[in-house]
Amino acid sequence: MAIYDIVNLMKYEELGLVNTQEMLRDALARGYAVPGYNFNNLEQLQAILIACLETESPVILQVSNGARKYVGTNILMSMVAGAIKEYRIPVALHLDHGADFQICKDCCDMGFSSVMIDASDKPFDENVEISARVAEYAHARGVSVEAELGALEGIEDEKVGTQTHYTNPADVVRFVEQTGVDSLAISIGTSHGAYKMKSPADTLRFDILEEIADALPHFPLVLHGASSVPENLVAEINKYGGDIKGARGIPVQQLVRARQMNICKINVDSDFRLAFTAGVRRALAEHPEAFDPRVYLSAARDMIKELCKDKNINVMGSAGKI
Ligand code: G3H
Ligand code: 13P
Ligand code: ZN
Repeated sequence: MAIYDIVNLMKYEELGLVNTQEMLRDALARGYAVPGYNFNNLEQLQAILIACLETESPVILQVSNGARKYVGTNILMSMVAGAIKEYRIPVALHLDHGADFQICKDCCDMGFSSVMIDASDKPFDENVEISARVAEYAHARGVSVEAELGALEGIEDEKVGTQTHYTNPADVVRFVEQTGVDSLAISIGTSHGAYKMKSPADTLRFDILEEIADALPHFPLVLHGASSVPENLVAEINKYGGDIKGARGIPVQQLVRARQMNICKINVDSDFRLAFTAGVRRALAEHPEAFDPRVYLSAARDMIKELCKDKNINVMGSAGKI
């Protein structure tokens, strides 16, 4: 079968993917979070899957629209299909921050097993309408659907959110009932990118999370913008010529507390970007004679792999849960 046929005709089950239903149900029941890890290239994909294989963790591989464009849709689908044959663990392929019905439909049609419709910048009724339409289309194909209520600050798939709008706990039951989505991303103070909390004393709004979890006791909640921005990685980047100032992430203890309160999917992208950059910078500094990309790309891959294993064990609690 030609690659064109694989991309356009294969169902996600035939690619070896699973949807997120069973993953999230188990995570909710056992108090851990399934990692939602973004990737943009081969080395990131390999690092994530090797780390999850070695720690026996399920994983939701996430692709933003920007990542899809960067890699190219055909290459992306072939890369994921190949990687799944190589590393045999439960993997869902998820569209991150789908901006409208069309992109979610396209991803359902090309073999994604899960999509996020992010209409959180729209008024409530419009968000409900778009999210319900995506859920109807996706569910007819067995594809899982995540939606979002409330909005995060920071760069989010080609959009820049300038202000946090916390999720209103009074809206969540109505939203879930009216849309039929499978999981809900909420806004409790996290934000996208490497510049999150203003001071080390800041905390997430656990009071809001508690109200939401009380209102939706058996429903999977999702935390975006959950990178911790490890200080050692920022220091490593700066040591080897980088210039990253004032970056701060979400402390690990707060993420662990959140996953004990029905957050059963935690999204990470920025930390892997930092790890990748630190790996490349250090390898090039230590091997100024090197010009084979495998020298510095494998260093970057190793950095992500180690970080990813650490997260599965100490943040997600997903290690050993396959
Ligand atoms: O939610 C945002 C993700 O980090 C994706 O970022 O649009 O730069 O790929 P990106
Ligand atoms: P970070 O920028 O905190 O890694 O968040 C990633 C994310 O939420 C992807 O959807
Ligand atoms: Zn996000």
